[in-house]
Amino acid sequence: ILSKHIVVLPGDGIGPEVCAEAVRVLRAVADRFGHEFHFDYHLMGACAIDATGSPLPELTLDACHQADAVLLGAIGDPKYDNAPAAPVRPEQGLLRLRKELGLYANIRPVMAYDQLLEHSPLKADRIQGTDMLIFRELTGGVYFGEKGRFNDGNSAYDNCTYSREEIERIAHRAFRAAETRRHKLTLVDKANVLETSRLWRETVQQLAPQYPSVALDYLFVDNAAMQIILNPRQFDVILTENMFGDIISDEASVIAGSLGMLPSASVGDAVALFEPIHGSYPQAKGKGIANPIATILSAAMLLDHFGLTEEAVTVRDAVQHALDQQVVTPELNPATRYTTEQVGSFIAYAVLDIADCEMH
Ligand code: IPM
Ligand code: MN
Repeated sequence: ILSKHIVVLPGDGIGPEVCAEAVRVLRAVADRFGHEFHFDYHLMGACAIDATGSPLPELTLDACHQADAVLLGAIGDPKYDNAPAAPVRPEQGLLRLRKELGLYANIRPVMAYDQLLEHSPLKADRIQGTDMLIFRELTGGVYFGEKGRFNDGNSAYDNCTYSREEIERIAHRAFRAAETRRHKLTLVDKANVLETSRLWRETVQQLAPQYPSVALDYLFVDNAAMQIILNPRQFDVILTENMFGDIISDEASVIAGSLGMLPSASVGDAVALFEPIHGSYPQAKGKGIANPIATILSAAMLLDHFGLTEEAVTVRDAVQHALDQQVVTPELNPATRYTTEQVGSFIAYAVLDIADCEMH
């Protein structure tokens, strides 16, 4: 039997609720397939600041380093959002964790689900069949450049820096992913304006001959933002820098029908981390209305990462079953009354292959 240690960082807002459902599903997978998953819970984000003063306590960081994988809910609390002068912020915990774990590649799959086509504000015939994979660089760029104030605090700067090595390591991963898919890689940048983007283009172009089966093309990020909702089927694998990837992946979530559907995997040289792309949605905290599917699909990516392909497919099938039966949270179907926990339980039961998974 396979035995794995998974560190869970539920975080803030709806994070604990969606994590609980992903853990429920992982326990069902362990049951059905005879694995042993051990879950250790640790603090990160606003809850960690409240408890320890630090958004990423050393205990949490050490546990993540030791883990086989990390499952994260969400971090962030409105009490910090409009307090620009706050000395510590929940986001610092997440950014430092990504940096410390060396998670340079954030992989965000975007699909149009047939069951949710009518739910997207975009026209169904435009989005049907969309299946793209966004590779977002996660430990460089403007997020991590030198930042500060000058002119007595009246001017500010955030530097954007990339090295050839930082670009190459994620580009190799994106090319390899394209080789296993539809053989198309689109680099999204702003090479008409930014020097860092010109380095991205030059570097990625130089790697292209190593992947002869992959067709490489380029789009400026402003045009890409338009193309993603105009004709999303044209995309297979998208490769982009940190901030562009942050923005276009939220935009692309409209295709899936809800931000609550999009999972992600962050990988690097050692331990990997799995998290939904959505935030902590503080307004929904404790109401049982948060969609757990993004976190459950992140758990499926975690299973893939462990090499448990059949298990991952089972989880994705169980999610499809929930969508087929319209066992979804209210943002996907205002007429249903299913709670976060009911959706999670339904999916966990489907994993266990229990025939009678009618909800009451
Ligand atoms: C994300 C989030 C984070 C980011 C925030 C919370 C720092 O928006 O994971 O996409 O910008 O990377
Ligand atoms: Mn984001």
